[in-house]
Amino acid sequence: MSNHNPIGIFDSGIGGLTVASAIKRALPNESIVYYGDTAHLPYGDKSKELIAQYAVSITDFLLKEKNCKAIVIACNTASAAAYETLRDSYKGTVPVINVIDPMIEEVISDDALSNVGIIATKTTVNSGVYQEKLSRRKPKLEYHALATPLLASMIEEGFYNNTISEAVLKEYLSDSSLKDINGLVLACTHYPLIKKEIDRFFHGKVKIFDSAEVVARKLKWILEKEHMTSDGAMAEDHFYVSDYTAAFEAATRIFFAREVKLELCKL
Ligand code: DGL
Repeated sequence: MSNHNPIGIFDSGIGGLTVASAIKRALPNESIVYYGDTAHLPYGDKSKELIAQYAVSITDFLLKEKNCKAIVIACNTASAAAYETLRDSYKGTVPVINVIDPMIEEVISDDALSNVGIIATKTTVNSGVYQEKLSRRKPKLEYHALATPLLASMIEEGFYNNTISEAVLKEYLSDSSLKDINGLVLACTHYPLIKKEIDRFFHGKVKIFDSAEVVARKLKWILEKEHMTSDGAMAEDHFYVSDYTAAFEAATRIFFAREVKLELCKL
């Protein structure tokens, strides 16, 4: 395995590009291979078994065909449904990083927090993974998980920073379970795009946690610790999707800060 090998990153679609973008900022010398499973989007309302099946075939592609040196599951739903399966299946080969554990570390290390909200897809909330990890690691912390299923598709359709997103967010964030929170975890990789709006809703009084930066930092720490960083000599990025549309390609601009060319690759 060479240090020049790429980092494999995948998501149900293009929302995980927020994580890919943070990784490129934190590790500019690295090559990435991104896979967006747009043919099976959204994962947020699918069963754990089906998502695990998709995650295994994507990881096989990233490892066997693209020789990736690390795998980042840039999707909370896939992390909740398939991380254990992937970790156990590829044990001893390459590091597999999910978006949930680094976030749990970040939240529990902040002693100013007493009451934390978690917003995510239905599958992530119903998996109970955030609730279980938080209660085990910090039993005194109060937490409330709320499914916000409209948000990912709303953002993907370009509805953010406008009156529609404001109304949808107001409806969700006014939920009584979030009344007394002083921290909020954006537990979906689409949500960094609405971070500012959420902050405005709470008048800056709630600390908002977004997984993109947290996960990029964790990956950088692992690659440096394992002496696996690249010097950038052959850096080249590729972005694959399981279903190509021009709309997906245009939307990459909002998640990755620039439009990227999507290559069709059915698994
Ligand atoms: N990006 C996915 C996540 O982080 C949500 C989108 C979906 O439902 O597929 O959970």
